[in-house]
Amino acid sequence: MAGGHRLLLENARQVVMVCGRGERFLARDALRSLAVLEGASLVVGTDGLIKAIGPADAIQKMFSEETFEERIDCSGKCILPGLVDAHTHPVWAGERVHEFAMKLAGATYMDIHQAGGGINFTVEHTRQASEEELFCSFQERLQRMMRAGTTLVECKSGYGLNLETELKMLRVIERARRQLPIGISATYCGAHSVPKGKTAPEAADEIINSHLPKLKELGRSGEIHVDNIDVFCEKGVFDLSSTRRILQSGKEMGLQINFHGDELHPMKAAELGAELGAQAISHLEEVSDEGIVAMAMARCSAVLLPTTAYMLRLKQPRARKMLDEGVIVALGSDFNPNAYCFSMPVVMHLACVNMRMSMPEALAAATINAAYALGKSDTHGSLEVGKQGDLIIINSSRWEHLIYQFGGHHELIEYVVAKGKVI
Ligand code: NIG
Ligand code: FE
Repeated sequence: MAGGHRLLLENARQVVMVCGRGERFLARDALRSLAVLEGASLVVGTDGLIKAIGPADAIQKMFSEETFEERIDCSGKCILPGLVDAHTHPVWAGERVHEFAMKLAGATYMDIHQAGGGINFTVEHTRQASEEELFCSFQERLQRMMRAGTTLVECKSGYGLNLETELKMLRVIERARRQLPIGISATYCGAHSVPKGKTAPEAADEIINSHLPKLKELGRSGEIHVDNIDVFCEKGVFDLSSTRRILQSGKEMGLQINFHGDELHPMKAAELGAELGAQAISHLEEVSDEGIVAMAMARCSAVLLPTTAYMLRLKQPRARKMLDEGVIVALGSDFNPNAYCFSMPVVMHLACVNMRMSMPEALAAATINAAYALGKSDTHGSLEVGKQGDLIIINSSRWEHLIYQFGGHHELIEYVVAKGKVI
């Protein structure tokens, strides 16, 4: 091999590859598929892609004549894929710490929502905020996510509801996508709540006839790139038939369907998503048995959000049942003013303790399967030759410490690398 390379990571105690391409990878197979190499090295090229992974002495021989822009001695440390956060609401203004106190005193999520708090509170503040203010707080949040090991994150709009503010949020996401090292999958979530004075079918009409055509135009001109379409399908928010109409229209303009379903009430959202060819459905605390089977058959991934069930003291999503039925289970932080968590290591920890996932399952769900939920498992989510050089190096000789420890990850995660560059 001739020429220089970007990065050499030498002699790691463990390299956790998490092999797989999503479509063929099931979290229930994680124990067999994580592929942990001991005493291994990894090379990333100047194009940001992984060039080689293997035993340290073999890599040393292969690349002995090569130059590297950067080398890191990984003795005693572990290398894992960068974490993928498959569900966040990170662009907003307006604090909601007071609602945490209300919830601790017994108010439910819907009590607060119906009293004009919750999403509606954040919508009012986000509408008033300038684009610059939103970008600054968003950037800080992304930096905290990166420090916690996230290298690819799904980011939703949805605190505007009207076209003007939804576009403002999407422009902020687009700017971050172009300027920051973290990978971003952008989601239009204009159907996050029904605006005051409208019914759900009326709000759906406005989205279909005005918001989506505008997004299509901005996508064509290259101004704003959107990957996914989302709806909060819930009793008292968007009913099943309005959800269907919005998702179908989004799909027709080329967006991946990735929506909130079966969270607080059973809505048959999973059945709908499977029928429409959704890439992912999030939450699913109240999913039916039939819905789980339909999702497995349709290769529609389940994005489970342990922080939400924890914060709202909901029943836990049935991760074990989903894994047993062959659903592609992914994880997300659901970072938003309700679930204020940036950390995928904490999310994996909660998934193991509260949802009874094993550590290999949780890691697969927060890497390859989360990449699958975003339609990016061919390029992201595992350490394999040809995939993007997104990875983390932890200061521990066993990779499980990333999940076992809860809190204090800044000391544990020593390096975060995106496209071969230490960030
Ligand atoms: O995924 N359930 C709907 N959306 C968010 C909460 C958003 C908010 O409360 O601001 C969620 O948990
Ligand atoms: Fe959400």
